[in-house]
Amino acid sequence: MVTERNPYSKHVCVIGAGPSGLVAARELRKEGHSAVVLEQNYDIGGQWLYEPRVENEDPLGKNPTLEVHSSMYASLRLTSPREIMGYTDFPFLIKKGRDMRRFPGHKELFLYLKDFCEWFKLREMIRFNTKVEYVGMLDFAKFGKEKWVVRSKDKKSEKVIEEVFDAVVVATGHYSQPRLPTIKGMDSWRRRQMHSHIYRVPDPFRNEVVVVVGNSLSGTDIAMELVGVAKEIHLSAKSLEIPEGLSKVLSKNQKYLILHPQIESLHEDGRVLFIDGSWVFADSIIYCTGYSYSFPFLDTKEMVVVDDDRVGPLYEHTFPPSLAPSLSFVGIPRKIIGFPFFESQAKWIAQILSGKRTLPSWEDMMQSIKEFYNSRDAAGVPKHKTHDIASFEYCDKYGDYCEFPRLEEWRKELCLTAVKNSITNLETYRDSWDDDELVQVAHQSTHFTQLGPEAFDL
Ligand SMILES: Cc1cc2nc3c(=O)[nH]c(=O)nc-3n(C[C@H](O)[C@H](O)[C@H](O)COP(=O)(O)OP(=O)(O)OC[C@H]3O[C@@H](n4cnc5c(N)ncnc54)[C@H](O)[C@@H]3O)c2cc1C
Ligand SMILES: NC(=O)c1ccc[n+]([C@@H]2O[C@H](COP(=O)([O-])OP(=O)(O)OC[C@H]3O[C@@H](n4cnc5c(N)ncnc54)[C@H](OP(=O)(O)O)[C@@H]3O)[C@@H](O)[C@H]2O)c1
Repeated sequence: MVTERNPYSKHVCVIGAGPSGLVAARELRKEGHSAVVLEQNYDIGGQWLYEPRVENEDPLGKNPTLEVHSSMYASLRLTSPREIMGYTDFPFLIKKGRDMRRFPGHKELFLYLKDFCEWFKLREMIRFNTKVEYVGMLDFAKFGKEKWVVRSKDKKSEKVIEEVFDAVVVATGHYSQPRLPTIKGMDSWRRRQMHSHIYRVPDPFRNEVVVVVGNSLSGTDIAMELVGVAKEIHLSAKSLEIPEGLSKVLSKNQKYLILHPQIESLHEDGRVLFIDGSWVFADSIIYCTGYSYSFPFLDTKEMVVVDDDRVGPLYEHTFPPSLAPSLSFVGIPRKIIGFPFFESQAKWIAQILSGKRTLPSWEDMMQSIKEFYNSRDAAGVPKHKTHDIASFEYCDKYGDYCEFPRLEEWRKELCLTAVKNSITNLETYRDSWDDDELVQVAHQSTHFTQLGPEAFDL
């Protein structure tokens, strides 16, 4: 599969300057392509570019286009320790004068990404305040999938530009568009309803009775933050079999934080009725029910569709067989160690585009996707979790497509110890742990020593 030459340099448009788009730009340039990154925001960072102003956003994200990209709230800290976060060749170092915690706040990761940009001189490749409004094939009959039209708007001048590229890499993220449940009475409930996408600080909920829907990371983080601010917090979960860590939090705050099953219906008098017949009068409901994939700018003539959060068909979550390799996606998988995985995707895409490597035939890619879907269905995985990977083996096998280094053992182990700690000690896992020996191993590895002392002088 590997050939020596790199005969083709492509003109590539990368959409988005978050962690996926930045590393895509870096890898494309390294492979000899000319890449332009179009970013709707004023700076890099994607989700990590905190946006405190959310008043213009529809609280339930029902408008066709969102005003705000980042769903980060003010108090947000990483769920995984900093050692495992970095791209393979750019460790997430502790820097004096900055947030030096092992599980730092969101700003520290933003600063890491800025350092990454600086180190690899990526800023010159990015056009900021440029929102992509349309991506489609240029005259399919004439060029097939070889040329793409990208229409973007400069947000300051409102000027619309149309450009033609050989390839497009979509790196627009998928934690912005609210995924909402359907609940009887939701449309007519007159009190405050919002999605965690626009939750920023607990203050607006002072002395309120708040129902928090969903007990995954956003739901538990927000519910815990509301303790001591809101009058009561009612946490509605799909299952009442909850992890030990959450149980401990509930017992500690049993007067104010109460677990319920799913909501049955909402009533005009403000009542929220749960499926076990219990009910509360609530002032606010915060839906922490996750996010949906959405590509409002993308016209693929139905060759890529989003069906209940399954983006497909995509070969290895990256290439749509009918449009590959000129259209690709970075960052679709969830439940992975993000940055190194995005890096491996970017490297593979860059090498496929240059002709250094080739993809299997259309038939073989489609067969592989079919087998993958069948295996997920057989395992009882709901469609909306198609891109939840949760497998180091998968990441390693994926990396083999472009001889990407396998995840270091310490990285895998540190990931697992943090997950285990968060399950049993939800409230404290970011500040108290017992895997210091593994941290030492990480710090002595080449991942951390490769840049030398220079790296600390940014
Ligand atoms: C609340 C929250 C907490 C999280 N915590 C963690 C964590 O602790 N650890 C972790 O690893 N991950 C975490 N994540 C996941 C996080 O999304 C990823 O770490 C990472 O940001 C994904 O990078 P990305 O580049 O794929 O997408 P994003 O970071 O979403 O970046 C996408 C970029 O595309 C741009 N864009 C979108 N549409 C357009 C358009 N039409 N035109 C131009 N530009 C466009 C956006 O402005 C944005 O800059 C969290 C996510 C959320 C929401
Ligand atoms: N760094 C941090 O501290 C932090 C904080 C928040 C979020 N994040 C990240 O952000 C991403 C999104 O996390 P998230 O928590 O917002 O979304 P999420 O992980 O998708 O979780 C949403 C939860 O809501 C549940 N749900 C859906 N409908 C429901 C209903 N009607 N009633 C009760 N529960 C319902 C879902 O159950 P099903 O899964 O069964 O549908 C799921 O458990 C994740 O990658 C996460 O790691 C990180």
